[in-house]
Amino acid sequence: MANERFDLSGRVVIITGGGKGIGKVYSNEFANAGARVVAADIDGEAAEAVAAAITARGGEALGLRVDISDPASCEAMAAAVLDRFGTIDALVNNAALMSTLARRSWFEIPVEEWDSVMAVNLRGMFLCCRAVYPTMRERGYGKIVNISSSRIWEGSPNRLHYTTSKAGVVGFTRAIAREVGEFGITVNAITPGFTLSETQLQSSDTSYVKQRSYAEQAIKRPQVPDDLVGAVMFFASPASDFISGQTLNVDGGKAMH
Ligand SMILES: NC(=O)c1ccc[n+]([C@@H]2O[C@H](COP(=O)([O-])OP(=O)(O)OC[C@H]3O[C@@H](n4cnc5c(N)ncnc54)[C@H](O)[C@@H]3O)[C@@H](O)[C@H]2O)c1
Repeated sequence: MANERFDLSGRVVIITGGGKGIGKVYSNEFANAGARVVAADIDGEAAEAVAAAITARGGEALGLRVDISDPASCEAMAAAVLDRFGTIDALVNNAALMSTLARRSWFEIPVEEWDSVMAVNLRGMFLCCRAVYPTMRERGYGKIVNISSSRIWEGSPNRLHYTTSKAGVVGFTRAIAREVGEFGITVNAITPGFTLSETQLQSSDTSYVKQRSYAEQAIKRPQVPDDLVGAVMFFASPASDFISGQTLNVDGGKAMH
């Protein structure tokens, strides 16, 4: 049945960074599609507020404070989700250090900041996958969606640690996909273009946003979080069960590869 391929109803979907920014939009939209949503964020209050709002409008959701760079926190997240919902169908690795990072020359990046970006953006992804893997493997099914960035196609400057970490996401996605495929688990990535998330708008000065040109995009308008939802849902749904290790660019047709 065509519709069943895209059916997310009842699916248990963990969205890291699900309390704010684009992750909050994923949380709300997955809930609107009938999924049981886990908003997991280092900002526990934000995660709980997202879950409470979903629950108030009749959906099922759980808000958790999770630090994805901490192994124990990731294990506790998986345990709490299994305790509440009994299964984990999908993990969206969306949390990252991004909007809180200054835009500056590579030569001015403090070594400690380089390390924390790698600890959250790459080690965090590894730890979250590690935490959900046993239950997905046992069940013989799972969907993992990793969020990279179109910066990796463009070589965008001024956040070298961030861009490097997002290129790592693609290598991670390809290699882990080969190791988990035999257990029915798919792992794919998307590369969003510059997206006007609430956190991006708060952290970018107006001139940085205004000076952006859309001339090079096939679709000539600013990118908003809603533009990413379809791609993430596709990779979390049965429609993509024979697709793994892939990276889908979602930037309005700017970079083509
Ligand atoms: N906005 C963009 O232009 C853009 C472009 C390309 C890719 N992305 C990617 O999309 C994702 C979401 O972007 P956003 O604009 O909402 O950015 P953001 O900086 O607002 O989102 C990051 C989220 O992750 C959470 N987080 C940070 N550290 C964490 C940790 N250790 N443990 C758990 N949660 C943690 C934050 O609280 C926040 O909710 C990120 O992976 C980002 O790199 C964004």
